[in-house]
Amino acid sequence: MPPTTKHLQTSISRTGKDYAELHSWIDDPVLKNERHDFTNIWDFGAAIKAKYGEEGLREYIEHLREDMDVKLMKIWGKDAAVRDEALDYYGIRKKGRDYSLDMADIKLLQDAGMSAEDLDHSLKVAGRALDIARRVKADVDMELVGRGALFHDLGKAKTHAIEHGLIGAEMGKALGLPDTINVIMEKHIRGGLTAAEATEFGLPVKDYTLHKLEERIIIYADRLVDIIYDGLVKVDGAADAEKRFEDILSNEIKYGKNDITRERYFGYHREIQGLMGSTAQ
Ligand SMILES: [Fe+2]
Ligand SMILES: [Fe+2]
Repeated sequence: MPPTTKHLQTSISRTGKDYAELHSWIDDPVLKNERHDFTNIWDFGAAIKAKYGEEGLREYIEHLREDMDVKLMKIWGKDAAVRDEALDYYGIRKKGRDYSLDMADIKLLQDAGMSAEDLDHSLKVAGRALDIARRVKADVDMELVGRGALFHDLGKAKTHAIEHGLIGAEMGKALGLPDTINVIMEKHIRGGLTAAEATEFGLPVKDYTLHKLEERIIIYADRLVDIIYDGLVKVDGAADAEKRFEDILSNEIKYGKNDITRERYFGYHREIQGLMGSTAQ
């Protein structure tokens, strides 16, 4: 069973709230078996709905779904076809616009050797990226946004140097992850390098341009998460970070880096805020 903290992060990725109290109630060390029993959903449901609303009740069911996902992973181990069939049959794997993080992906990151701190960052970027993706008025592949964001720093399991993009993409390939995700790892360094920058950093010279909106959303979310959680600049949550994005990048060298990088981030920010119909540009 995933520790309760994972449930808090996936709740945030779906609803923006962690439902911490609800998840620790479900995972009560003494009563967790009866609280994870599907046949008790009806009995517990009414009280949960009264206390946390319909969304809370859904998060209770999502908690059970995620645990079932992890259990099935353990039972069937490497027999992916059998597992996939069960995941679809019982609605354990979610597709489409309501995509939420997959426990199997989180386990993959842990097994690859990612530190708890880097995993926490990845989960936050995924949550932020999914939130942005839900708000843009455009056709967005939610699964690509969620998984791409979750895996963008996979290479940090091996190094925190600038090569972590390249190394992550190689690791992703070896793990059999889709190319659409591997290129996100490779291209996420400084939000998509120009050939001149790649040369300067000693990275392979190729096209790192972010061609897909999904990729740009992930990069934007990555920047926002650093701003929100680093503590370098005082910000009042995600909305404030978005509103003051250009000011913060202009004043903090850590975020803006240099003119080329800063302008690239500004471009993503303006495009995405525009797609959300916001005036926070
Ligand atoms: Fe990174
Ligand atoms: Fe990152």
